[in-house]
Amino acid sequence: MSDHTDTTDAGHDVTAPGSSSPVAGDGGPPGDAVPSGAVAMTSFSDPHLQPYAKNPRRAEAIIGFILLVGLAGFAAYGGLYWVGGQTQWEGVFMGVGLFAFGFGMSAWGKYLLPQGPFVEERHTMASSEPEVEAMAAAIGERGKMVFRRRGFLGTILGAGAGVMGIVLAFPLRSLGPQPKKSLAVTDWRTGSYVVDLDGRRIHQADLEAGGSLTVFPEGFAGSSVDQTMLIRLAPTDQDIVTLPGRENWGPKGYLAYSKMCTHAGCPVGLYEEVSQQLLCPCHQSLFDVRTGANPVFGPAPRPLPQLPLMIDSKGFLQARDGYDQPVGPGYWERP
Ligand code: FES
Repeated sequence: MSDHTDTTDAGHDVTAPGSSSPVAGDGGPPGDAVPSGAVAMTSFSDPHLQPYAKNPRRAEAIIGFILLVGLAGFAAYGGLYWVGGQTQWEGVFMGVGLFAFGFGMSAWGKYLLPQGPFVEERHTMASSEPEVEAMAAAIGERGKMVFRRRGFLGTILGAGAGVMGIVLAFPLRSLGPQPKKSLAVTDWRTGSYVVDLDGRRIHQADLEAGGSLTVFPEGFAGSSVDQTMLIRLAPTDQDIVTLPGRENWGPKGYLAYSKMCTHAGCPVGLYEEVSQQLLCPCHQSLFDVRTGANPVFGPAPRPLPQLPLMIDSKGFLQARDGYDQPVGPGYWERP
């Protein structure tokens, strides 16, 4: 049962709380339209202004009591603290005070404040065309004025930005000279003699079957890009054919492959005689020597380039030609 008469004050018109414009009309149902722009006036008999509590006086008394308990809790806390304090009881009194005040304020809001609902019509959000144009013109004019007034600062700002732009380009110096074709070619040429690290020419009788040696083109001993694994597969006069089209690349049991791994460029320095495979120790890529150093295990994406060999009339090994492709890891998409 509602006891609205307790809080009504018939005859006094007020503007609806929480709203600068309309609430439902006097006594009307929630959501009743009120003409736009009108200042809604209503009376305390408006059901939207009534509290939720059926008996507001009793609710007020209960809430008042709860707040008093809270007040007493705070006072007890303060008094106890004043006379010397006792930590546990201080906590209890403080807790009682906070809880009672929190509960009392929540109950006040829920049971004694007007329940609404209150509806406020929204104004049109969009600006008209003339308003937009006026604003754009004002901003443009204002901006010009600001820069006209602060021309000196604007000049310094521009100069600073220019200097900073130049400074930001400085790191380009650390890029060094362009590699140009050096990434694609080695120093191996047609007729280059095969030499060891000391520059000594390699004779066909130098390696036993199953032997291997790191070699370079004559004149470039120690060059990393030129380093090549020379392997002797068989002690015979037999030529070794690894792939079609390479019939004369492996004379008298010799084969030569670039030593730079096609994965990340580590030296592929381990030759396993039994399996006839080259092993890269960095990430364990395995290359099958018999089939053109095709990768059979590991992350290497492509075979090691093979160096075509020939033997001169005195039995010294030479390059029949340079590598037919770039050595080392791929630095662009290769077919
Ligand atoms: Fe050879 Fe990674 S560098 S496997």
